Amino acid sequence: MLKRHIAASETSECQSNDSFTVVDNRTGNTYEMPVTDNTISAKDLQKIKSPDGEVTRYFDPGYMNTVNCRSSIAFIDGEKGILEYRGYSIEELAEKSTFLEVAFLLIYGELPTIQQWKKFNKKVMTHTFHHNELRNMMKSFRYDAHPMGMFVSAMSALSTFHPEANPALAGQNCYDDPIARNKQIYRILGTAPTIAASSYRHRIGREYNSPRYGGYTENFFYMLDNLNDSDFKPHPVLVRALDVLFILHAEHELNCSTSAVRHLASANTDIYTCIAGGAAALYGPLHGGANEAVLKMLTKIGTKDNIPAFIEKVKNKEEKLMGFGHRVYKNYDPRAKIVRKVAEEVFEVCGKETLIDIAMELETIALNDPYFIEKKLYPNVDFYSGVIYKAMGFPPDFYPVLFTIPRIAGWLAHWSEFLDDKDKKIVRPRQIYTGHRKRGYELKVERDVKVNVSLESTKSTNGVRRKAAYRYWKSEH
Ligand SMILES: CC(C)(COP(=O)(O)OP(=O)(O)OC[C@H]1O[C@@H](n2cnc3c(N)ncnc32)[C@H](O)[C@@H]1OP(=O)(O)O)[C@@H](O)C(=O)NCCC(=O)NCCS
Repeated sequence: MLKRHIAASETSECQSNDSFTVVDNRTGNTYEMPVTDNTISAKDLQKIKSPDGEVTRYFDPGYMNTVNCRSSIAFIDGEKGILEYRGYSIEELAEKSTFLEVAFLLIYGELPTIQQWKKFNKKVMTHTFHHNELRNMMKSFRYDAHPMGMFVSAMSALSTFHPEANPALAGQNCYDDPIARNKQIYRILGTAPTIAASSYRHRIGREYNSPRYGGYTENFFYMLDNLNDSDFKPHPVLVRALDVLFILHAEHELNCSTSAVRHLASANTDIYTCIAGGAAALYGPLHGGANEAVLKMLTKIGTKDNIPAFIEKVKNKEEKLMGFGHRVYKNYDPRAKIVRKVAEEVFEVCGKETLIDIAMELETIALNDPYFIEKKLYPNVDFYSGVIYKAMGFPPDFYPVLFTIPRIAGWLAHWSEFLDDKDKKIVRPRQIYTGHRKRGYELKVERDVKVNVSLESTKSTNGVRRKAAYRYWKSEH
């Protein structure tokens, strides 16, 4: 129960409707905190001190309810299943736009005019070549290297090719110049598909293709697939399908990888390393690696008959239903609906992927099961995208790469927004320390004696482990 207010407000501001009044029952102090945009400031929370004068903090391990920036790039209403980029609905963009146009929208805030589009397209497409030494570096990977490993490393290596664009070398403010900032944007958007295609070609043991001027996604297909056909043209339906998938994956506000990019950028790390860091975060199976994981899961389930047993395992927490659930969406992911439509178009060209039947049955069963209903677990974008990629003939380990290429547009938009943010700060959360304090240092010989003694005297689990470790090390040395 709250104590009566016994102390005056710590803040001098008058009480208003847009505020919280907090009573600290430990001290009896009352604090008034402004609420702006339905958010209270952690700085105001800092004013609440324990009886010992310690600052009060809140605990939020997965940033479940933490706001760390103002952003005008993407809007998500997770309850209603709405996604907008700069105010445009994802459905309309997927229907009417192209990926590169959407990248422009995300980064600069508006859809491009014809003139802006021509310039942007040309700039990005003329930055598609990568340095021969980068190509050589990629060639030094093992023949079966995971393409994401190659992508992350190559993107990070790119920073060493552009010291003039590295704040550590060229000066802290080197991105303030819009020309310099744009140059990195063109370069990264342009080079990413080339690095991605090279990682793919490496895996299949073929010479890397150099880019050929054309549409962004068309050129990507060319670099992936051309053997020695100077007239090579990818199938337009597949080009459009991948372009739509690129639009759907381009941005999703402060997801794990975008937060990683902003986190790195907060230290003024060069943008190539930031993008590599974003790609590294995206690689994880709980994030961008989920599409690869879905495919593995569907393959493992194998037939529709095995679905009920699999669902039981999920409910017993022995398995996870990959491609389901989302930190923000507590409704059907709007992107997943579009992906299902795109799947039909791809199947018309490439033939139906049989795993789609298992996926659809799995979805129906899950959406009618109280476990998933109560936890508001719906299919996310990754649930069907892997099936399309498989139908298109991509190997599962390339799926996260197909997610990374478009997400770079979102990362660049956030990077640029972060650079201009007057509230920006180096990202540095706090912790609750749970370890030892002020221990006396013991010499090795003293530690040894102590272990021997504790081996004699303890029968605890800890003692068993230490005993085993001690025996092991003794036999080794
Ligand atoms: C995306 C994801 C990481 C979000 O995690 P989160 O917001 O931290 O949600 P939680 O892990 O706290 O999940 C809440 C509950 O739903 C369950 N849950 C969440 N996703 C689940 C899934 N895919 N399968 C089975 N149960 C799931 C959790 O076990 C938890 O149950 P509990 O309350 O009994 O402990 C999580 O849903 C997940 O791992 N999904 C599968 C991977 C995936 O598809 N990732 C792509 C995201 S676009």
